[in-house]
Amino acid sequence: MMLKDTLLYLSQNARVHDFVIQNPLARGASRRFVAGEDIEDAVQAARTLNRHGIQVALDYLGENVTTEQEARGATDAYVSDIDIIKRAGVDANISIKLTALGLDIDQSLCEENVTKILQQAQEHSLFVCIDMESSAYTARTVDITLRMHERFEHVGTVIQSCLYHSKKDIERLITQGIRVRLVKGAYSEPNTIAYQNKSDVDRNYVQLMSLLLARGNYPAIATHDEEIINAACKYVRDHGISKDAFEFQMLYGIRRDLQENLSKRGYNVRVYVPYGSQWYPYLMRRMAERPANLMFVLSNVLR
Ligand code: FDA
Repeated sequence: MMLKDTLLYLSQNARVHDFVIQNPLARGASRRFVAGEDIEDAVQAARTLNRHGIQVALDYLGENVTTEQEARGATDAYVSDIDIIKRAGVDANISIKLTALGLDIDQSLCEENVTKILQQAQEHSLFVCIDMESSAYTARTVDITLRMHERFEHVGTVIQSCLYHSKKDIERLITQGIRVRLVKGAYSEPNTIAYQNKSDVDRNYVQLMSLLLARGNYPAIATHDEEIINAACKYVRDHGISKDAFEFQMLYGIRRDLQENLSKRGYNVRVYVPYGSQWYPYLMRRMAERPANLMFVLSNVLR
């Protein structure tokens, strides 16, 4: 737990960020989890996954921007990348983060930027998932998703099973027919609002997953946890739910064997493919989830 918290703390540290991001060996090691720095790298990764029958969610990396210029820059990048994705003909949708679009600066600026992306996505019939960040943003993310969904059908969000409040949020989203990606949660949260033990987070995940599979609109079961994945397969079998009524999602570079195995068994599988130059906090969260990843990156950097 201490190592996890330290890595999550360092994911927000500007000096460590500058040191790591300038190191070419660290950049090389990040390629295990990040497709590359350009949209072309992401499209290439998507093509390869599509060839294996796997769909993709593309994420242009970036979060917690502090200037309006950066927030507008990220928005423009998404708008032009949607065009590139469609022209390339890959089977992919996109994921966005509200703090990359200005949520820390001004909520109305952020909503203006989200609207621009959703308009462009609507023109190309492309689904957009609003990623969930730390608990400081949960309520605003759910509210913005609900509001955007009144105008744009093709928007959904993410709910984290580590938070006590998630069942209430899921009920609101299910009632509106909004698509939900269910995850365990990648941030360090206090015990006043979040389960601290893995067994509690997992138990809550299975409960929320059953709710979504029974009544949700094409939910995404996003995990690499084989026990939970097996429980999902059993739940849909027992309840006569079609394999086309939901999808499994996993992260780029993690459990490729499981991704292909599920796809071969006829389940819908989507892989989340991050790209862009702002890979540092994303990489730190992947290391916090699994210390072996820290050893992988360090062994590359120290080689
Ligand atoms: P758990 O951590 O229990 O791991 C189960 C097994 O999976 C491990 O034993 C290991 O084999 C493998 N595994 C897990 N993480 C690994 C890693 N980093 N490297 C290698 N192997 C690993 N979170 C969030 O807060 N907001 C969000 O928007 C998203 N979005 C998102 C999208 C998608 C598609 C996925 C799959 C995940 C997210 N997450 C997320 C991250 C999520 O909250 C969680 O931190 C990770 O998925 C790890 O948890 P697992 O469910 O895999 O279980």
